[in-house]
Amino acid sequence: MSTTVSIRLLEPSDAQAYRDLRLEALRSSPEAFGSSYEEEAPLALETIEARIPSSAPNAIFGAFADTALVGMAGFAVYDRMKARHKGVMWGVFVKPEWRGQRVGKALVQRVIDHAARHVIMLEAAVGITNESARRTYHSLGFKPYGIERKAIRVGDTFYDEELLYLDLPQPGSS
Ligand SMILES: CC(C)(COP(=O)(O)OP(=O)(O)OC[C@H]1O[C@@H](n2cnc3c(N)ncnc32)[C@H](O)[C@@H]1OP(=O)(O)O)[C@@H](O)C(=O)NCCC(=O)NCCS
Repeated sequence: MSTTVSIRLLEPSDAQAYRDLRLEALRSSPEAFGSSYEEEAPLALETIEARIPSSAPNAIFGAFADTALVGMAGFAVYDRMKARHKGVMWGVFVKPEWRGQRVGKALVQRVIDHAARHVIMLEAAVGITNESARRTYHSLGFKPYGIERKAIRVGDTFYDEELLYLDLPQPGSS
């Protein structure tokens, strides 16, 4: 596809597009996310809008093909005082028709760049059989530190997840 994909922060006004993509992600890849379609589909648009961070450090990045949202990746800092040096990447998804074109990699790189301004370690978790996501994360420097057994349950099937971390330079150290 020749359309250029650009990445920017989602804003509360992107709520409808974000909701549509998020529900597509939860429906099509239930084993890849801790949240479920059944839990999120009934939520009011205002609730979704309120979940889109309006200021740093938490953020959701969207990949746009022209004006259409085709991918996303989230970042959140742990709340508690003793854990605020760490953040987690969540909700990484690219629409199937846009996969294999480095959109996922660009989104994850954007989260890493953003995280480096706020935390010294970025965490992620990925299904141990999810080759495309594992490849994406590993190629950008994430290192595995363990396996969470039966991390996700979808129906009668359990999925193990690889736990990943990425050390980031102390903000202001470079
Ligand atoms: C994971 C996902 C975001 C990757 O997005 P994408 O835009 O297709 O990925 P990219 O084109 O940027 O490719 C990134 C890397 O993965 C590799 N890759 C892509 N698809 C692959 C596949 N099916 N098998 C193996 N490697 C694959 C690419 O070669 C590239 O690695 P490289 O740069 O070392 O060559 C996308 O597949 C997706 O949305 N999957 C469903 C949801 C999901 O699993 N999310 C992750 C939750 S942890």
